[in-house]
Amino acid sequence: MTTVVCPGSFDPVTLGHLDIIRRAADLFDDVIVCVVANPNKQGTFTIDERKAMIDEVCADMPGVRVDSFYGLLVDYCRDQGATAVIKGLRDSTDYDYELPMAHMNRSIAEVDTVFLPTRADLAFVSSSLCREVTRLGGDVSHLLPAPVARALRERLA
Ligand code: PNS
Repeated sequence: MTTVVCPGSFDPVTLGHLDIIRRAADLFDDVIVCVVANPNKQGTFTIDERKAMIDEVCADMPGVRVDSFYGLLVDYCRDQGATAVIKGLRDSTDYDYELPMAHMNRSIAEVDTVFLPTRADLAFVSSSLCREVTRLGGDVSHLLPAPVARALRERLA
């Protein structure tokens, strides 16, 4: 059984994230979607709210479970027996940001990173842009799972 970790802030989870999670679940037996807490960032949703939303929208995906973590990602991977981290890549900016982390995680532990190219039609989607557009009254409901779009509107609009 191969366990992998899909880490991120997921504030909130988008259709881009969901596509990566679904494809990771097609490739690997056991996928842990891990909301990584950042104590320096307040966040729009609490860690528990983010987890609950991911739980709801991944309910139809066998082999996917949701967790949260604060600390070094490779320690979490080791504790879970995970051999790889899964990351979605939208563009070269993501690549430049992710590659040093992938090298570092490989350098300090036996944890590899598998990059999946984001679905082309969702390559411009980010949680931060969805938050900003919603806050300013725009509609991003076609870019978010329905319950997430509702929750974001209630929180920000
Ligand atoms: O969704 P994000 O904010 O791009 O996710 C980045 C995240 C949380 C996956 C990354 O910052 C991370 O792995 N944080 C855990 C702390 C850690 O292990 N830092 C060293 C990275 S080499």
